[in-house]
Amino acid sequence: MLEAGEARPLVVAVPKGRILGALAPLLVRAGVDASPLRENDRRLVRRSADGALAWVFLKPDDVPTYVEYGAADLGVCGRDVLMERPSDIYQPLDLGVGRCRMVVAGLAGKAPPAGVPRVGTKYPRCAAEHFARRGVQAEVIFLQGSVELAPLVGLSDLIVDLVETGATLAQNGLEEREEVARISSVLVVNRAAYKLRNDRVRPLIEALRPLLPAAAGDRGARGGAGA
Ligand code: PRP
Repeated sequence: MLEAGEARPLVVAVPKGRILGALAPLLVRAGVDASPLRENDRRLVRRSADGALAWVFLKPDDVPTYVEYGAADLGVCGRDVLMERPSDIYQPLDLGVGRCRMVVAGLAGKAPPAGVPRVGTKYPRCAAEHFARRGVQAEVIFLQGSVELAPLVGLSDLIVDLVETGATLAQNGLEEREEVARISSVLVVNRAAYKLRNDRVRPLIEALRPLLPAAAGDRGARGGAGA
């Protein structure tokens, strides 16, 4: 249990998985003790050695929920998560790590169907908005994962999913058709914590800011991290 009041550590929500490998070095450069991110165990709450930070480890999709409700003061999540489920949280920085792209893909060499395409995806909102923007009617089918399977077994004509190296598409005989969005990880902050714990939150933001690609003149991932 995390204690309340002045002694309460700053609670930082991070997604479990491969993003931690890119996030930890960035935090270290910002002067943050990120060693709990490197510990390979099953604990879901890990305190920094000085007790000032409590890291909580979540499924990526849950990070905005914990931050919006104030169970975590701040967190890190992919822009894909925020696009799919807009949350009332402050987004002061695009961290430029965890870069990938959200794309439309289909079976390699196979022409798109003549009628309304069926689209398998973990991102039904993003997919629907993408096809609507293009004036294309599409039937969107929600899937939890392994989305690349859907066209292989005839569940869908197309998919909307994330691509990082392109290996998963290639190994399943799929090819990219369109880019939906460029994705990277975003620092998110609970709106009340941004005001009430500003003495803790702001120094962290200001330590990270000069380390980010945009500060060096490279605009990095598209889509500024607006509040
Ligand atoms: C993500 C994504 C793709 C894959 C892309 O899946 O959904 O399947 O990574 O990476 P690549 O272009 O480097 O091959 P993840 O591994 O997160 O698992 P999931 O299918 O359960 O979402």
